[in-house]
Amino acid sequence: MKSTNRNKYAIVALIGLITFASIAAISPKEMQPRERNLKVLPKDISHDSLDHLMDYYKVALNVKCGYCHTRSEKNPKKLDMAADGNPIKEVTRKMILMTNEMNDKYIHSITHPSSDATQLQLVTCNTCHRGKAKPDVAAISIKED
Ligand code: HEC
Ligand code: HEC
Repeated sequence: MKSTNRNKYAIVALIGLITFASIAAISPKEMQPRERNLKVLPKDISHDSLDHLMDYYKVALNVKCGYCHTRSEKNPKKLDMAADGNPIKEVTRKMILMTNEMNDKYIHSITHPSSDATQLQLVTCNTCHRGKAKPDVAAISIKED
């Protein structure tokens, strides 16, 4: 009796394994590149441009990638760049939109008074941040008098 039961379990386990293996084999997920979670940056931004931009944020704010990105649930030693777990990522999205709007709406509408200005100076993250995660409000102190 005991051995037939054991055989049954073995067969059930084997069927389970075959089913799992065949699903894994036909699943196209691993073959296709993972869809990006880009809500404000251009969805078709190249890998290199995205890399450069992220490096730029790092330097402009003097932070590491993990300041804005969250740890992977599967491997906490790594960051999950596509995940939205870190609230600073959402703040950054607002910052990107704000910076774009400042340039599109205002800077680009400037008619330069001096004719030698051939190129408009655009607002960047560094215009305000200058190597600080939070811009330094104490840089200028205005005394009330
Ligand atoms: C100041 C915050 C900030 C820093 C620092 C930062 N990132 Fe990001 N990163 C973002 C935001 C915000 C997005 C999502 C943009 C969007 O929604 O369009 C993003 C998206 C990404 C993505 C795309 C993920 C996907 O597939 O959806 C990658 C990859 C990435 N970052 C890598 C990095 C790396 C590597 C570093 C460090 C060199 C880094 N980031 C530093 C804010 C940051
Ligand atoms: C016009 C000035 C200005 C520009 C341009 C600007 N920021 Fe900011 N940023 C601020 C200010 C002010 C704060 C602080 C807001 C607060 O939390 O009170 C801030 C806060 C942040 C924070 C949150 C920091 C923290 O620890 O709470 C991040 C991240 C950030 N900015 C990223 C960026 C990125 C990336 C860019 C460029 C795409 C950018 N900012 C452009 C002014 C600016």
